[in-house]
Amino acid sequence: MINIGVLISGRGSNLQAIIEACENGDISARVAIVISNKAEVYGLERARQRNIPTAVLTSEKEIVQELEKYEVELVCLAGYMKIVGAALLKKYFGKMINIHPSLLPSFPGLHGQKQALDYGVKVSGVTVHFVDEGCDTGPIILQATVPVLDDDTEDTLSARILEQEHKLYPQTIKLFAQGKLQLVGRKVCVSA
Ligand code: GRF
Repeated sequence: MINIGVLISGRGSNLQAIIEACENGDISARVAIVISNKAEVYGLERARQRNIPTAVLTSEKEIVQELEKYEVELVCLAGYMKIVGAALLKKYFGKMINIHPSLLPSFPGLHGQKQALDYGVKVSGVTVHFVDEGCDTGPIILQATVPVLDDDTEDTLSARILEQEHKLYPQTIKLFAQGKLQLVGRKVCVSA
């Protein structure tokens, strides 16, 4: 059983998927602490409803201290709208993952779904990756695809991708908790 710390900035639907996967035993992990850089976001409320400790912090040094206090072994960024800095990376490189709503390396940064629509791709999806110093540039762990339909709007494509996000994030955490992810340079090997 590993301790997870989840960093959020908003509604927390991925947080919810992670909490549920832990609670129903799909993954051998527990969400030990939820940290938001913004007060009064719905994700914090979701954590409180499950009696999970929460904190609102913007200083990265304080975030690291909080994660250490809860003996966090894996940090999950779930809609965390800040670029991670040196303090977090120094302590958690290889133990910090992020979810992004496009098939990286295409369409990093904000509004990945809109970028995909505007570009005219026929397939998009979701990526879970280890976090490095760049913006959505770290080693890719898992990806899932969704079709882009002719009549898609940003909302309909986002909803189709989100459905996959809620499966892929717990699946990735499960592999990490089982010790099945090996980072070899830029590549992540997933053992059977
Ligand atoms: C998701 O689309 C995630 O991929 C992106 O931000 C969004 C967060 O949504 N990084 P939620 O807060 O988990 O509902």
